[in-house]
Amino acid sequence: MSLIDRIEVNVSIWRERVARLMKEHGDFVIANVTVEQIFSGIRGVPIQVSDISYVDPAKGIRYRGYSINETISLLPKLTGTVYPLSGGLYYFLMGNELPTLEKALEIEDEWKARSKVPDYVFRVIDSFPENGSTMAMFSAAVLSMSSDSKFAKSYQELLIKSDYWKMTLEDSLDLTARTPQICAYIYNKKYRNNQQIEPDLSLDYAANFAHMIGKGDDPQYADMMRLFILLHADHENANVSAHTAHLVGSALSDVYLSCSAGLNGLAGPLHGLANQECFNWLVKLYDYFGGVPTKEQTEEYIHKTLDEGKVIPGYGHAVLRCIDPRFEAERVFAQKHFPDDEYFRTAMVVFETAPDILKATGKVKNQWPNVDAMNGVLQHHYGITESDYYTVLFGLSRMLGFTCHVVWARAVGKPIERPKALTTRSLEAMISEDIESISELKTKKAETSG
Ligand SMILES: CC(C)(COP(=O)(O)OP(=O)(O)OC[C@H]1O[C@@H](n2cnc3c(N)ncnc32)[C@H](O)[C@@H]1OP(=O)(O)O)[C@@H](O)C(=O)NCCC(=O)NCCS
Repeated sequence: MSLIDRIEVNVSIWRERVARLMKEHGDFVIANVTVEQIFSGIRGVPIQVSDISYVDPAKGIRYRGYSINETISLLPKLTGTVYPLSGGLYYFLMGNELPTLEKALEIEDEWKARSKVPDYVFRVIDSFPENGSTMAMFSAAVLSMSSDSKFAKSYQELLIKSDYWKMTLEDSLDLTARTPQICAYIYNKKYRNNQQIEPDLSLDYAANFAHMIGKGDDPQYADMMRLFILLHADHENANVSAHTAHLVGSALSDVYLSCSAGLNGLAGPLHGLANQECFNWLVKLYDYFGGVPTKEQTEEYIHKTLDEGKVIPGYGHAVLRCIDPRFEAERVFAQKHFPDDEYFRTAMVVFETAPDILKATGKVKNQWPNVDAMNGVLQHHYGITESDYYTVLFGLSRMLGFTCHVVWARAVGKPIERPKALTTRSLEAMISEDIESISELKTKKAETSG
């Protein structure tokens, strides 16, 4: 069954499930919202349904119900490689079915057929100043392709609502197909004197990307990128970037507009940019002591960072309350392939040291490392030393998740998002009215019992 047929089958099942939930349990209360939650980034308030992936606070990300390790072991791989094809991952996330190798290769072929990047996209990237941010270039390049949106064009031609998702899938396949070359172009422009490398369409998604940034002679880097893409593909749709992509998409903005907005969120230091921040912090720690630090030296440096009012990048999470399994997968990879790498050893000393110190602050809710704590170490080992490119690599991978969520939101007919804002005065009034009615109730009770 092709991907579109596979989604079609699932769409009717999901539409029925959603319709039943709405009809029979539309007034079921899921959660109350507290004043604290409103002022703390609506933390913990359920605002989305996310069937593509779900972050279990105690165990980490689940892709379509499967853990990271299960996903790695169950998805199809090319002979001689350890990690799954990104095409199979996309089929799995989008189609809700574990693909055969044949299905995975079909998506890889779809991507190849759609991979031509229009020239104007390169001109958009070229128009940035020399010190332009790599994430701004990436976002602008994606944004510029809105003019190619098949969804936007069909919408003008009276596309019927139940078919919105089909044209959105078309755009999603086009966008994800073009993304590796766009990201490679940015890398080569900024860090390789604009020496661009033509795509090699005999290679799979990850290996072709590796080839285009000059890593074509290192099959281990390509395999690491297969893992990297898998680990970063999605993290449910309530985080800043995926939620932004969804929010913008809910206005029926096309996939390019939505994903460009998602990338802007990813570019923030508390979100995707943390992997760059984290690696820079590791390098500073290493340089400060002139080599791999001891545990005592690392403790001293962590305290120094905290005393300066800064966070320890790569540690903590808004939802997770455990070691991020994506960190663990990268740690295992590094331990197997380059246990003596000095930055890997530095990251491991931080891992042995930081959680206890963060826990002892008494305010950090999750003292464990997230995936960003190891990302830079992996990339740096293979010669991608430019840390301000790391978030682009994150975005390249996350494009898979963004697009899956936007397609599925349209498939189940999610409407435009519009929560409600309150004024501080109205909030205060609600609270004092509540306090008054409680005290009235207490007085009445006292009178009747007296
Ligand atoms: C991810 C992050 C933004 C989550 O924020 P959060 O949900 O508000 O986290 P918490 O509820 O645990 O925060 C409570 C307090 O602990 C602090 N804290 C959390 N993680 C911390 C860390 N890694 N280092 C130092 N302090 C940290 C917060 O800044 C906050 O302090 P405040 O009350 O003085 O403002 C936060 O842990 C962080 O900034 N981590 C470092 C950046 C990072 O790795 N980001 C990538 C996430 S995938």
